[in-house]
Amino acid sequence: MVVQFDILRKEKKAEKQYTQSIRYEYENPNESVANALRQINRRQERKDIKGNPVSVIKWECSCLQKKCGACAMLINGKPGLACDARLAAYKTETIRLAPLRKFPVVEDLIVDRSILYENLKEMEAWLAGQPELREQGYEAAYEGSRCLQCGCCLEICPNFYAGGNFFGMASMVPVARILEELNENDRKSLIKEYKKHIYSGCGKSLACRNICPAQIDIEGLLLNSNALSVWKAGLRRHGGV
Ligand code: SF4
Ligand code: SF4
Ligand code: FES
Repeated sequence: MVVQFDILRKEKKAEKQYTQSIRYEYENPNESVANALRQINRRQERKDIKGNPVSVIKWECSCLQKKCGACAMLINGKPGLACDARLAAYKTETIRLAPLRKFPVVEDLIVDRSILYENLKEMEAWLAGQPELREQGYEAAYEGSRCLQCGCCLEICPNFYAGGNFFGMASMVPVARILEELNENDRKSLIKEYKKHIYSGCGKSLACRNICPAQIDIEGLLLNSNALSVWKAGLRRHGGV
């Protein structure tokens, strides 16, 4: 089987991006985009379809098992993990690879996703004291711990842009876990941040729900965290739940 990769590339510190087309032959139908990139980079001589030399393609990977989120990129225009994208699943003769668009491009397919961590830092989304995880919070806390911080949900979200006030589901998911684990007092300031950076900015279109490569139950966590932060918090203040 043969596929042509159209790869959007950019040299470090260069302004302009350009597309390079590379032909790739493979036999195993389970072969992934990640594996193809590795094989292309291993070639002694890399050439594009016109015979021009091709430099090593820069991209990020670590686990190759859908566990780290490093290899997130646009594959035929859709955000996904290169190690989870099977070549044979694409019915097109050409597969387009490009870096995620919501983050600054460092080089080729590598983007700078540090804004994800900056946003969590701004919300002070961490456990400072002794966690108080109640049994009814186990499921949400576990689900919230599965986030890869890949950024695919932010890529698809119409309301998120880097540096904006809305932090998106890449913040909501880890915060959903921490909200469950914080004691009543410590939770107050995180609830304030949650309302400011997540609750008030989300249009609830749930475009992010189906794109998550970890298949996290974003909708369930969002409902749970909204309840904990808004109406249940209100009931607590008035002596309810
Ligand atoms: S529900 Fe819509 S607005 Fe909210 S994070 Fe998901 S895609 Fe963005
Ligand atoms: S919620 Fe899903 S898509 Fe968003 S950053 Fe976490 S793992 Fe990636
Ligand atoms: S390399 Fe870790 S998720 Fe793809």
